[in-house]
Parts: sequence; structure tokens; C-alpha cells
Amino acid sequence: MIKAHFTLLVLLIIGLACQQKKDEKSSLALNKDFNPLEFSLEEAIEADKTLRDTSVKISFDHYFKSTGKSYRAYPLKAILAPWLAKIKDTSNLQISFICFDGYAPSMRFSKVLKGEAYVAVRDESLPAGKDWPDSLAEKMRPYYLVWQGIAPEDETYTWPYGLADIRIAAFFDEFAEAYPLHDAKAEKGFSLYQLHCMKCHSINKIGGIMGPEFNYPKSITSYWQKEDIWQFIQNPQAYRYSAKMPPIAHLKREEFEEIYTYLQSISEIKPKE
Ligand code: HEC
Repeated sequence: MIKAHFTLLVLLIIGLACQQKKDEKSSLALNKDFNPLEFSLEEAIEADKTLRDTSVKISFDHYFKSTGKSYRAYPLKAILAPWLAKIKDTSNLQISFICFDGYAPSMRFSKVLKGEAYVAVRDESLPAGKDWPDSLAEKMRPYYLVWQGIAPEDETYTWPYGLADIRIAAFFDEFAEAYPLHDAKAEKGFSLYQLHCMKCHSINKIGGIMGPEFNYPKSITSYWQKEDIWQFIQNPQAYRYSAKMPPIAHLKREEFEEIYTYLQSISEIKPKE
């Protein structure tokens, strides 16, 4: 009798474990039928006559590393309102911020909606007639994305300038060919890569194009030594005086190991066409 109970308990535990695994996979597939949206911010702002810009004083600006910035800006959620009204379920959607220089960071849409993002058009510390500091005017236009209330050490929000377009797509649609579906060990590395590298370095043509692609046709792991990648990311200018990649100082060695595992794992997967 006791034995039978024990067997039942074991079966129940195995059943629960399987269910959890299944839920993870299905959450990846969630919203798979969502039709991706892509639009120009400028057109969206012009089309919506109810939008008003406001003045926002940003507690800590992550790009300028400053506590004293204030901007003329539109609340991102107000710009997105017409689309939000049509989206039934925002879970598992990804929003990408597409910039003129090829930078294309993306975030979970639900995280963006929980935060307070503003699309800035003008630095309010400047005299009338000037929107951005002279040296930055070309770079910042048309829009610069800022956030209210983000702690200085929190790197999970993105602050793109030269922001032109928005794309909203199912997480799965956005990343299908770059996601290590075949290898659970590489999933953590994918998340870290997505947070720190993908906005500039595409994988299988998915992601930013500011820096070179790292997997197609050849994986970077086949022609760069692992240690050189690690040294390069901490100080690109130590390799090339003209390097345009900013040093990535906060990445821990363990995190880099995960990223490298991902890069090796995805090297087996190439885009379909
Ligand atoms: C803000 C954009 C940006 C980010 C973020 C970024 N890179 Fe780069 N990276 C570049 C650019 C631009 C280059 C092009 C060459 C240069 O600057 O010398 C580059 C070049 C490289 C190179 C040299 C590749 C070659 O073949 O020349 C490596 C390696 C590299 N990046 C690794 C990384 C890794 C790993 C990450 C994430 C931890 C990362 N980068 C994040 C912009 C970026």
C-alpha cells in the first residue's frame, strides 16, 4: 500500500515537471500568429492629432550619464495607443527600436509598457532654436528614447538615439532563426547576447547591423579566438585605434562564457534562404 502511494507520488512529480517544460515551450510559441507591425515614428506622431509633447526631467539619463537632463518629449505609450487598442495579448511580444545607424535594440513589449518611456525631440537645457547640442544634432535626430526612474546600474533598458522606426512582433517571429531551440544549454547565452550584443551584431541576419554579423555565413567562433573576443569587447580600441564599438565594461567572465556557448551552439544553424 505504502509502495503504491510512493509510486503515485513519483508519477505526479514527473507529470508536474513535464507540464512545466511544456509551458515554457508553449510560452515561446505564444502569440505566434501575431502579424508583425512596423511603422515610422515620425508618421505616427504626425497622424495623431491628439498627441501632446510634454516636459520631462529624467532622474538618470543612461546615455549622457547625467541626473540633470530634461527633454521635450512624447510619452511612448500615447504614441502606441492606436496599436495597443488592437493588440489583444501583449505577452511574448518583442518591440524593436530601429535607428538610422543600424542600431536595433529590442525589449519585451510587456516590460516597455510597465515602464515610463518618452520619445524626446529636444534637449530643454538649450536656448530657443536649438534642439540638440551642435555636435550631436545629426546623431540624435529624429528621436531619442529616454526613460523615467531607471537606476544607474540597470542596463536592461535601451536608450537609442537616431530612432526612426518601431517594430512589434511575436518574440518567436523576431528571433526564430537566432534562438537555440535545439540546445537548452545555450538559452541563457542567447538572452545575454540579446541584451548586450544583438542590437549591433546580427545572428543569421537577425538584429542590428551597426557591427558585423556573427554567424552567417561563417560563425565568428571559427575565425576569432575566444580570448581575443573577450579582450576585444572590454577594450576594442586596444585592437583598432579607430574601432567604433564602445567597450563593454560590465560583462562578467561567466556571462561571456554563456554568450560564447550560445555562439558555438548557433553556429550549427544557418538562415533558411
Ligand atoms: C553599440 C554597438 C555594439 C555593441 C553593443 C557591441 N558591438 Fe561589437 N562591434 C561593433 C562595431 C561597430 C564593430 C566593428 C568594428 C570596430 O568597431 O572595429 C564591432 C566589432 C566587434 C568584434 C570584432 C569583429 C570583427 O570581425 O572585426 C567583436 C569580436 C565584437 N564586436 C564582439 C562583440 C560582443 C561579443 C558584443 C556583446 C557582448 C558586442 N560586440 C557588442 C559594435 C557593437
